[in-house]
Amino acid sequence: MQAPSAKSQNKKRILSGVKPTGKAHIGNYLGAMKNHVAMQDEFESYIFIADLHSLTSVKNKKELQQLIIDLALDYLALGINPDKTVFFRQSDIPEHAELTWILNCVTPMSMLELAHAYKDSKARGDKEINAGLFDYPVLMAADILAYEADLVPVGKDQKQHVEIARDIAGKFNRIYGEVFTIPEPYIPEEVAVIPGTDGQKMSKSYGNAIEIFAPDKELKKQVMGIVTDSTPLEQPKNPDEDLVFKFYSYLSTAEEKKSLAEKYRAGGFGYGDAKKLLLEKLMDELKPYREEREKLKQNTGYVTDVLKKGADKAKLIASATKAEVWEKVGLNI
Ligand code: TRP
Repeated sequence: MQAPSAKSQNKKRILSGVKPTGKAHIGNYLGAMKNHVAMQDEFESYIFIADLHSLTSVKNKKELQQLIIDLALDYLALGINPDKTVFFRQSDIPEHAELTWILNCVTPMSMLELAHAYKDSKARGDKEINAGLFDYPVLMAADILAYEADLVPVGKDQKQHVEIARDIAGKFNRIYGEVFTIPEPYIPEEVAVIPGTDGQKMSKSYGNAIEIFAPDKELKKQVMGIVTDSTPLEQPKNPDEDLVFKFYSYLSTAEEKKSLAEKYRAGGFGYGDAKKLLLEKLMDELKPYREEREKLKQNTGYVTDVLKKGADKAKLIASATKAEVWEKVGLNI
């Protein structure tokens, strides 16, 4: 019989986590979620809801519960297929937290002091930075290393965390012997950083997000709110300096992009017109997922069942890694 952690012979294993902290926006969708769905055919795929990571910022029980279910609904609606992807919740697998402790003990504090999340929080002058935020990259390393992931598909902002996971894995392997696979970050170049409707990084907390599952009216308002310059309607416009065009390009073929660029350059075409085209495009792309989500919402029993079955599969791998680690460090007497 194959050992539970035996990898598929011909497929690389990918793993990624997404924090339930807010409504999914087009930055999450284009930067990560869409890609996760696309990759499940080619790779042996593990996707999980990083609910333990959310605890560094979400302190309300009801809110967290809702965020977890919402994110599960989002992913299933977008096409994560539980027959192809092991889709689970981080907190269902105690090994994540257990391995974090072991990894903490080989991780230099100086490395974590350089991690963005902590550094930014400190630079902002946040009064109470919790130890969880400081240790965030180590929990993330445990997530990745527990499953011997080869590739970690993430947005550019998470690259540093994957590099920290690589360093921690290397350090552990040097001290105790080869256990961990050294993971590679996998970042689709063309959509690495999605701007918000005001040109800053898209984030719920900046109020500049386009939420993929927002009600129609709300979605329209978000698209119409994209910031543009004040070039009058009649005048030619430069598509390369416009956000509406940028969003449109993420969703379009080269041909469609070219045709819109021509309209911009010809003049007599306003940003309002461009926004209408973008909204149509967005609705075309999202319609099937939005409908699917409405259906799934009626059946949250199915959703929790999928997560439970995913956890059963994930557990086999994580517990095999734990056994190996416990043996190496001397905890298995
Ligand atoms: N930190 C990631 C984010 O904020 C989420 C995450 C947690 C993750 N654990 C992970 C991503 C493991 C990839 C692999 O987006």
